[in-house]
Amino acid sequence: MCGIVGYIGNREAYPIILNGLKRLEYRGYDSAGIALYDGNDIQLCKTKGKVADLETKFSAGISTNGSLGIGHTRWATHGVPNDVNSHPHYSNSGNLVIIHNGIIENYETIKQELIKRGYTFKSDTDTEVLVNLIEEVMNHEDTKLGKAVQIALNEVVGAYAIAVFDKRKPNEIVVAKLGSPLAIGLGNDEFFIASDASPFLEYTKTAIYLKDEEMAVIRLGRDVKIRKIKDDQLVDPYIQRLKLNLEQIEKGGYDHFMLKEIYEQPHAIKDTYRGRLLANKGIIKMSGVDDNLEKFMNAQRILIVACGTSWHAGLVAEYIFEDLARIPVEVEYASEFRYRNPIITEKDVVIAISQSGETADTLAAIKLAKSKGAFVFGVCNVVGSTIARETDAGAYTHAGPEIGVASTKAFTTQITVLTLIALKLAKLKGSLSQSDYHYHLQELELIPQKVEQALKSDVHIQMIAETYMNARNFLYLGRGYNFPVALEGALKLKEISYIHAEGYPAAEMKHGPIALIDENMPIVVIATKKGHYEKILSNIQEIKSRSGKIIGIVTEGDENVRDLADHVIEVPETVESLSPLLTTIPLQLLSYHIAVMLGKNVDQPRNLAKSVTVE
Ligand code: G6P
Repeated sequence: MCGIVGYIGNREAYPIILNGLKRLEYRGYDSAGIALYDGNDIQLCKTKGKVADLETKFSAGISTNGSLGIGHTRWATHGVPNDVNSHPHYSNSGNLVIIHNGIIENYETIKQELIKRGYTFKSDTDTEVLVNLIEEVMNHEDTKLGKAVQIALNEVVGAYAIAVFDKRKPNEIVVAKLGSPLAIGLGNDEFFIASDASPFLEYTKTAIYLKDEEMAVIRLGRDVKIRKIKDDQLVDPYIQRLKLNLEQIEKGGYDHFMLKEIYEQPHAIKDTYRGRLLANKGIIKMSGVDDNLEKFMNAQRILIVACGTSWHAGLVAEYIFEDLARIPVEVEYASEFRYRNPIITEKDVVIAISQSGETADTLAAIKLAKSKGAFVFGVCNVVGSTIARETDAGAYTHAGPEIGVASTKAFTTQITVLTLIALKLAKLKGSLSQSDYHYHLQELELIPQKVEQALKSDVHIQMIAETYMNARNFLYLGRGYNFPVALEGALKLKEISYIHAEGYPAAEMKHGPIALIDENMPIVVIATKKGHYEKILSNIQEIKSRSGKIIGIVTEGDENVRDLADHVIEVPETVESLSPLLTTIPLQLLSYHIAVMLGKNVDQPRNLAKSVTVE
């Protein structure tokens, strides 16, 4: 978590860093700060709150001069969000200043040692300990900043992406990475540093992504020198041309990123299957799978590891793989999997799903699975992310940047990728008849236009949102393929509107949640025609007889649910296995509109972050 930005060159650093931080607020937004070197000294300003609060604080008279600076937007780990704990942090002498994304696990031991040597600490952060450790190494070993950073990092245990500079040498910034992402943008004798490339896209499309355990000394007038932190070995930088456009990371006329991303889904799903799904020819091409067919075909089971919304996509995939390809599947929360001594063998295929490709628990689960000899396949959205690199093979979702903290298009594109894999294996295994296989392919190709159709209920959904925006609890029910969709719908509502919501398998309702039902309880029931329809109708009757308010998500033209429910929202008909791609759309819109009506910060809900790079 946390976003970091840095600049060194000939331009004014402040606007570059400030705008960069705004783009990185998806990584954390409980406090922010910027340190600038103004030609004489460091000007440091930091505050609890968002980047906009920092801007206000600067505008009250703090100098924004300087063409060297670093900035930070925080998601608190050590120390509550307040002005003092915000980054950047000075060393005791005031010569060094640092920003840090990650956690130094052994900071307490180091802190005690530094206290013995006379250091004092203003904040509760692990980061202030790190900058003072660097200073101690510089003083003690009489080394330059780069060397001191290297020695200090060899002492610490944990994760980091850091940028640090010394006001006595204002022509260089030292950066290092382990676990948290760090990109260096290369301009014309100017350099940009950021957690991802979005802060510097308008200045340069040439970048280096540091790898784990690498550090770089970025000095004006010189090429970036990259070294291994452990053994000091010089590394040849891999310089990339970025394909990302600025428009892709802006709101494009929508009020919120979340709404834009909901509306991008037809396009995103098409981008996900483009070049892979050749429905007319009955072919699915996926190089990551094609190159490793033996692994997939001989898998005794598929283990799916993920967190949050990606875990819900994994649950949908469990139904798809077992139903279509007849391969046993287990879906695990990455955070549970990694700590419970799971049984993993070389005959297992592990699929790790992650939008960001940076989620710490998912990454740790991958490492564990690899150490036991399993073949690990990644389904990620962010190209070049850590998980994409750490897995044996994979498939990108190609959804484009997802900035709203509540995940939407990542979910549907993950399901699209997983469906493609399952269908490919189903064909090879012969577990699906030829005609069913071709029918699925054709239906998948039609999904983008059906999502477009589902989006047309937006105004109707707004009216439903208005009716229930003040409810204190919601229940979401679904069966089969649409049970995970119920979980995802409830998660969306919780995340952005702070209304308590629970997702449940519809039949399980009578084993507990039914006790909650009264005339104040809105219950969203996914009741598409093919998914255990008759059973769901009975569940709806059970709710109705207890006066619950029913919002039915139904197949176009459905009359039975309409007769029973208080409201219905129609989605186009498709095969059952693809229905989650459609039923999830109204649930995204419902949570979005309720949150907007309640005046919540939809794109940056409290306490959350887009990319969770801590355990
Ligand atoms: C955070 C985000 C969620 C996301 C989860 C997993 O909690 O707020 O939207 O689903 O992390 O993230 P990943 O990037 O691994 O899919």
